[in-house]
Amino acid sequence: MPQSIRQPLRVLHIDSSARFGRSSHDARGSHSRRLSHRFVTRWIAARPNDVVVRRDVAETPPIPIDADWIDASFTPQEHRSPAQSARLAESDRLVAELLAADLLVIGAPMYNFGIPAPLKAWVDNIVRVGLTFGFDRSREGEPYWPMLPPGKRLVILSARGDYGYDAGGRLEAMNLVEAGLRVPLGYIGLTDSHAIAIEYDEFADERLAASIAAAEHATDELVDELIPYYS
Ligand SMILES: Cc1cc2nc3c(=O)[nH]c(=O)nc-3n(C[C@H](O)[C@H](O)[C@H](O)COP(=O)(O)O)c2cc1C
Repeated sequence: MPQSIRQPLRVLHIDSSARFGRSSHDARGSHSRRLSHRFVTRWIAARPNDVVVRRDVAETPPIPIDADWIDASFTPQEHRSPAQSARLAESDRLVAELLAADLLVIGAPMYNFGIPAPLKAWVDNIVRVGLTFGFDRSREGEPYWPMLPPGKRLVILSARGDYGYDAGGRLEAMNLVEAGLRVPLGYIGLTDSHAIAIEYDEFADERLAASIAAAEHATDELVDELIPYYS
């Protein structure tokens, strides 16, 4: 059923491939960037007033969390030292960007079966106690709860060198990419997700070409499927 969501929407477009070109224009370019760019271009063609916010975590990697970050994030805001507040400043900006977004479009290549380290650093920075999830060990039942407002959607556009990582495939159990985003984002309240991937990059043969064509078609169909929910 169509949802009534404020206009215009904010689309948070994140890329994380270490390859900066797009494979549609550059023989050594990225397939995940190709898909995320295609999704957002088609989206904006249909909804030109929507706002696209770009975050390229390969170009500008979030600072990985460390002991100071953890200490600061678990210190109540009113008790934080200036140094602790400063340590959380980037995380605060990333959380604000996420909270403001209606739709997340994430280009996420498979690196060693999971997401690239800068994208994991982004995840670590936006899973924040008291901001995106709640925790109370004295709470009855579930001591953790999601804090993201409802209505957001996640689109994961991935690329893999090998093949067979989708449900029922020979390497399904080794695919930590979609789960690496769906699980932590679901934990903070973003549970509506969609995923499309290109496979066979390392084979560079007609199977790659067919996979690209199928993923591009699926990407176009996904845009067309989602647009009515925001109309
Ligand atoms: C560091 C690194 C690790 C990779 N690990 C895997 C892997 O575990 N499984 C796989 O199928 N492909 C792997 N690949 C291949 C990439 O997933 C493939 O090249 C994909 O197209 C990369 O995404 P991109 O085209 O958006 O850059 C790896 C590539 C790199 C550079």
